[in-house]
Amino acid sequence: MKIAIFGLGYVGFTAACCLAHDGHEVIGIDVNADKVSEINAGHPPIKEPQVGELLTEALGKGLIRAVSEISDLSDVDLAIVCVGTPSSTDGSHNMSYVAEVTRQIAEAVSPDRARPLTVAYRSTFRPGTVNQLVAPIFRSALGDRFEAAVEVVYNPEFLREATAVQDFFAPPKIVVGTRDGKLSQVMDLMHEGLDAPVFYTAYEEAEITKFVDNTWHAVKVAFANEIGRVCHKMDVSAKKVHEIFVSDTKLNISPYYTRPGGAFGGSCLPKDVRALQHISSEIGAHTHLIDSLLRTNEAHKTSQAQDIMARLPADGRVLMVGLAFKAETDDLRESPNVDIARRLLQGGYQLSVYDPEIEPADLRGQNLGYAFTHLPTVGTLLVDKATAEAGPWDLVVASNRIIEGLDLGTAEIMRTYEYD
Ligand SMILES: NC(=O)c1ccc[n+]([C@@H]2O[C@H](COP(=O)([O-])OP(=O)(O)OC[C@H]3O[C@@H](n4cnc5c(N)ncnc54)[C@H](O)[C@@H]3O)[C@@H](O)[C@H]2O)c1
Repeated sequence: MKIAIFGLGYVGFTAACCLAHDGHEVIGIDVNADKVSEINAGHPPIKEPQVGELLTEALGKGLIRAVSEISDLSDVDLAIVCVGTPSSTDGSHNMSYVAEVTRQIAEAVSPDRARPLTVAYRSTFRPGTVNQLVAPIFRSALGDRFEAAVEVVYNPEFLREATAVQDFFAPPKIVVGTRDGKLSQVMDLMHEGLDAPVFYTAYEEAEITKFVDNTWHAVKVAFANEIGRVCHKMDVSAKKVHEIFVSDTKLNISPYYTRPGGAFGGSCLPKDVRALQHISSEIGAHTHLIDSLLRTNEAHKTSQAQDIMARLPADGRVLMVGLAFKAETDDLRESPNVDIARRLLQGGYQLSVYDPEIEPADLRGQNLGYAFTHLPTVGTLLVDKATAEAGPWDLVVASNRIIEGLDLGTAEIMRTYEYD
């Protein structure tokens, strides 16, 4: 393919070298004239392992060249946008480079192309950008011919500096957002030979992927360092603790506890997080991330309760399916569902609860104490399966998997234990 790459920084220049290595003909475009002449003279504009050798190889084969601008994209199959999206003063991404380069591409595309030009955005930007910024720029330049002349895709880049070439050829995943979520032949061709799971999706899911990944990496580093500080101040070996922590690929380094859904609760997590917070404040470890966990969990319960109430008429009849913190247990201690039930009662809704494991007479000890402190009327709220299935309910709130065993006909169901 003939590929034009806009923006020859870490992402764009690495992609240019790697795609030329794959045999594509690459033309790199950068507004920085120094970078352009350096590349043409065989000097990489960035320090990054392997790119020097790849540039020499590509120049030798005549597969790469750099220019400051391009006015005709008629023989180009794929344009890749890798311009920067630095922080603005308010924290948002500065989108001026993306807007400007899109305008330049839109002006250089012929509306009468035989095959559409695929324009792949690799710059990181917020969900909605393709539809609300990029597409309107193309539409204003190309009018009704936009969709026939240009195939816009969003294709986030997962490379890490210092291992950029290695990551380009062995990405953790390939994500491509397209207009209809269906595959793009040009993008398949570009990724040919790469061994990684491929996800075709709508623009917005592809656009948010990098935010989620990068924020997750930041959470991991901050968490690791907070644990490191606590260990260090308590004279515990953080190295050994880390070794034990990462050895657990069943619960720790695993997909468990990462699915968006209900708040955390139960007899252990809130209690032990609270106690670690106490230790940390006692020893002055200033663990802001750990200190934020119970607050963000409360915020989640409030948000879910508000979402439920927004779907109910005043005085509405609501059935909560699942009260214990997990299906098949009767542990009500710090169950988020108990909190949400209480908020619904306080809001004046007619609440009933179906949870076959809960028998008030069988509750013991702290479990009994918690239930009657936080939901004193629990005994009067519980209904049996026949009543639950008979309804009618304005809304059924599914708090856990118990919902799978109920036949609720056409009742409106809202799941709080998982998001669509
Ligand atoms: N650096 C990384 O490790 C990494 C990884 C994944 C994604 N990203 C994202 O990719 C994007 C690019 O990152 P980067 O680190 O390569 O940026 P960078 O700042 O190193 O490079 C951007 C380049 O774009 C050029 N440019 C600006 N406007 C232009 C225009 N109109 N036409 C042509 N060139 C233009 C600049 O001169 C610069 O050389 C960012 O959105 C970043 O968040 C970066």
